[in-house]
Amino acid sequence: MGMDMEKKRVLSGMQPSGRLHLGNLLGALENWKKLQDEYDCFYFIADWHALSTSYEDTHEIKENIFNVAVDWLASGIDPEKSTIFLQSLISEHAVLHLLLSMITPVPWLERNPTYKEKQQEIKDRDLTTYGFLGYPILQAADIIIYKANCVPVGIDQLPHLELTREIVRRFHFIYKKEVFIEPESLISEVPKLPGLDNRKMSKSYGNAIFLSDPPDVVVKKVRTMITDPQRVKRSDPGNPEVCTVFTFHKLFSSAKEVAEVYTGCTTAGIGCTDCKLMMARNLNDYMMPIYEKRKELAGNPKKIDEIIHEGSKKAKKIAQQTLAEVNEVMGLLK
Ligand code: TRP
Ligand code: SF4
Repeated sequence: MGMDMEKKRVLSGMQPSGRLHLGNLLGALENWKKLQDEYDCFYFIADWHALSTSYEDTHEIKENIFNVAVDWLASGIDPEKSTIFLQSLISEHAVLHLLLSMITPVPWLERNPTYKEKQQEIKDRDLTTYGFLGYPILQAADIIIYKANCVPVGIDQLPHLELTREIVRRFHFIYKKEVFIEPESLISEVPKLPGLDNRKMSKSYGNAIFLSDPPDVVVKKVRTMITDPQRVKRSDPGNPEVCTVFTFHKLFSSAKEVAEVYTGCTTAGIGCTDCKLMMARNLNDYMMPIYEKRKELAGNPKKIDEIIHEGSKKAKKIAQQTLAEVNEVMGLLK
């Protein structure tokens, strides 16, 4: 399969921080999947980035890389369409990171809002390392080494994208040659998916439904979902607008069922248990193909390994080319 020169290039990455959940699927993967037909897509697992916060505890990284790859493939990220690769297999990212670090002023990194927020948020780990400060430089290298045009990310990543563009402009200004492309962010409008307790769905909150959860676990989890707290007795009418289960109905049930639930809830015509079971059925219908495919893939680790290595080989060729240009422009190796 030849590379399509007409298509713009998309690149995005995810840290291997564990099994992916429904929030990752709706928030990122569904979008990545759509982009595959229109763009030349590069999706990679950012294992070095994971070290920036968990360098002391690396025993799960290998397993997490495997699980993330399985989750991507099961969700429809297709190795025939997209280049799927592993960051640490492309040492060129690290070399470019080093070169970019020479031209990036430290204050640019220190004023990065993500840097400050994370340091305040994460108290149980030491984040005073250079690697953590330099995180966005590595991210910039990830992106520009492939001359990606667009980077689909959540809004939390916008400061990193802006910093990437600033580094590109500085490089071009200093070395008087436009080697790179200033990448644009691609923000998709994604439906907000709460977790079981109505906070943001997150692995660390323990409120997530994982793509690897079997149907009976999904039902069990849905049963624990927070409903309208005002609806105490079965005979109390409820307010679906404040109910987590209803948010899920709007995403996974038919328009007819959503209308039925709305009326049923506000008139106390339907009980929360029945309402939940109905939603869980629809959610499982949506998740089942992914769950099945996931099971099949997880049973074939050799194939997963092959896909990652094939993709990484393809990515490495491009990364090597760009790095050769960089060396030339900087007056380094020929
Ligand atoms: N920082 C991103 C995140 O935590 C992961 C990432 C690393 C990334 N390198 C990237 C995303 C390059 C997009 C492009 O979600
Ligand atoms: Fe929520 Fe459904 Fe109960 Fe209404 S009936 S409060 S929508 S679970």
